[in-house]
Amino acid sequence: MKPPTGSPLLQVQDLSVGIRRGSAYLLGVDAIGFQVQAGEIVGILGESGCGKTLTALSILGLLPPGIHLTRGSILFDGLELLSLSERELCGIRGKDLSMVFQEPMNSLNPLLTIGRQIAEPLRLHGSKNKRLIEGEVLDIMGKLGLPEPIKLAAAYPHQLSGGMRQRVMLALAMVCKPKLLIADEATTALDLSTQAQILHLLKRINQEFGTSILFISHDLGVISRLCDRVLVMYVGRVLEEGSVEAVFGDPRHEYTKGLIGSIPQPEQKGKPLLSIPGKVPTIKEKPLGCPFAPRCSKVRDRCTARFPDAVSLNGEHQVRCMAVTDYA
Ligand SMILES: Nc1ncnc2c1ncn2[C@@H]1O[C@H](COP(=O)(O)OP(=O)(O)O)[C@@H](O)[C@H]1O
Ligand SMILES: [Mg+2]
Repeated sequence: MKPPTGSPLLQVQDLSVGIRRGSAYLLGVDAIGFQVQAGEIVGILGESGCGKTLTALSILGLLPPGIHLTRGSILFDGLELLSLSERELCGIRGKDLSMVFQEPMNSLNPLLTIGRQIAEPLRLHGSKNKRLIEGEVLDIMGKLGLPEPIKLAAAYPHQLSGGMRQRVMLALAMVCKPKLLIADEATTALDLSTQAQILHLLKRINQEFGTSILFISHDLGVISRLCDRVLVMYVGRVLEEGSVEAVFGDPRHEYTKGLIGSIPQPEQKGKPLLSIPGKVPTIKEKPLGCPFAPRCSKVRDRCTARFPDAVSLNGEHQVRCMAVTDYA
């Protein structure tokens, strides 16, 4: 679904997340900004440890103890989330803003039936009529194509496959018809055919309910299949962003080029796989300037002095790389 014009549904500005290590704070997320328009699917792509989950948890107000927002602003549907009380945030979370994570078994209660759990957000957000709640639960299960809703509602989580549990999590996330769904590695633990079904379901959710989706994954292929736009994250920074066609069709940051080059291609069979030399630094080792500089084949002195400003290539495509701005 194409995003309508107007103010964005979600606007993250200059967001930094600090992790306490002794007396110091290390930045797990470092001054990032992005927007999600109503009806849009935005992907966050990055290797493990790049700050994707901390970004999601910041938006949800669910950062773990010892981890804090040190800077920034998160506007959701016109509200500054960072100025809301926990109680006010609870009124939004699970209703207008909901989420699914990687391992549904950790999020589902093994002792409660599926129907009871899908009903929980409705109860939490004020619905009292048991009949109406039951109706809504069966309705969302039906709309999301869950088989035999009445029988499934009476089942317990351990009786379901991983793929079915993730569908149940999506029903739970969608029962209050949220404006934004945050999916963090929601297809990562699934086999390929189940993954395809969940991606299809997410697309349907976006199209039928108009729900915006912030889809977080380390898997470039999955992001390119589902998303309208993508942010490429690396050690807490956004290095490149734009429409999926622009970023993956004409990548400009050496890191994005490396990620695309390391995907196996059928026509390359028998040839050695390309890979980015070196490894992702930890946030403690993160260098000054561009965090990718130590692994970059185009690195110059200036790259290690400061993190580059974003350059717009053509409206919808932005990159933060000195090689693009200075040496092109
Ligand atoms: N609960 C935590 N305690 C300490 N460090 C954490 C915690 N969660 C994340 N981090 C650190 O923050 C950085 C970003 O983590 P995360 O957002 O989970 O990355 P991603 O989701 O991209 O794999 C990593 O260096 C990670 O080690
Ligand atoms: Mg993560």
